[in-house]
Amino acid sequence: MDSITIRKPDDWHVHLRDGAMLEAVLPFTARAFGRAIVMPNLSPNPVTTTLELQAYRERITEALKAYPTFTPLMTYYLTDNSSAKEIADGFTNGIASAVKAYPAGATTNSAQGVTDIRKVYEVLEAMQKVGMPILMHGEALKDESGNTIDPFDREKVFLDTTLPALLKNFPELKIVLEHATTKDAVDFVRNENSNRLGSTVTLHHLMENREDVEHSEEPAYLHCMPVIKNEENQKALREAVTSGDSHFFLGTDSAPHLVSAKEKTPPAAGIFTVPSAIELYTQVFEDMGKLENLETFTSLNGAKFYGLPPNEETTTLTKNPWTIDSLVQISNGETIRPFGYNEDPAKRLQIQWKIS
Ligand code: DOR
Ligand code: ZN
Repeated sequence: MDSITIRKPDDWHVHLRDGAMLEAVLPFTARAFGRAIVMPNLSPNPVTTTLELQAYRERITEALKAYPTFTPLMTYYLTDNSSAKEIADGFTNGIASAVKAYPAGATTNSAQGVTDIRKVYEVLEAMQKVGMPILMHGEALKDESGNTIDPFDREKVFLDTTLPALLKNFPELKIVLEHATTKDAVDFVRNENSNRLGSTVTLHHLMENREDVEHSEEPAYLHCMPVIKNEENQKALREAVTSGDSHFFLGTDSAPHLVSAKEKTPPAAGIFTVPSAIELYTQVFEDMGKLENLETFTSLNGAKFYGLPPNEETTTLTKNPWTIDSLVQISNGETIRPFGYNEDPAKRLQIQWKIS
């Protein structure tokens, strides 16, 4: 097949940032996606209140002037001190779509996240009542004795501890296991088989595995949280998303950082994938011989989970190989390096599909 037309996709997990970086990255999301769930982990101040959320939405809208068809869907950043009423009201008033929960210290700009999930049970209670989804960064950082868990095991411990407790204590709460990275996560979501538990899967966890990262000339550009797992896990993710299973939906977790931050030690966690994300997801489905299931993953499952209609517009992708040939320039003089770019043209990723 050389051409495929699908309902316009949505990105159910993206970092758009703020200021000059927002201006530079937003066009890439708006060109490919109808809607996106916008992550609230702004630095230094995450989006915790309704006032902050509305102001951030306005800054996005301002930067979006050339893309009137794109709709940002806003989220609150959950802290130990979040107000249950403010958050639930934000949802019932149509201002916010969901709440993002980071375990404190798990990843970029998560320092003000949740120190113990039991501290936010009142908020979860209120969210459950109004039908507002909680978006879980699905990793546990410490075991019961307070020891730091190896990054490769953090998702598994979350699946053994926090997630079952949430499902049991909040039987109606809608939960997204964000950026699933393991076979264990896939199996958990499938076994639960509930329309109130969904999972996003990133492009980078489908495209890359631990061995790729270890052999990469520039592993910093594949550094992200949760870390990229081995081939067995990658295969399980590829099988799950392409199977047509309605519990899995597209969430790039595209997370731009300045080249200067990626080239520090340790590098900032996050990969800027949006410039070729929909094209490369299509490539994964083609590789798996499952192009017929592309649309359900990119454009239907997530909308259904969030109780929204699918986009009316369509997107056509055609076989038309291309590469990413430049860094993204920011107005302050800094640059961002997209996934697939390389200084050496011969090393640039060959992207087979193109939006036509
Ligand atoms: O790699 C990541 N980067 N993982 C996250 O959870 C956050 C993100 C970011 O904001 O940079
Ligand atoms: Zn994220």
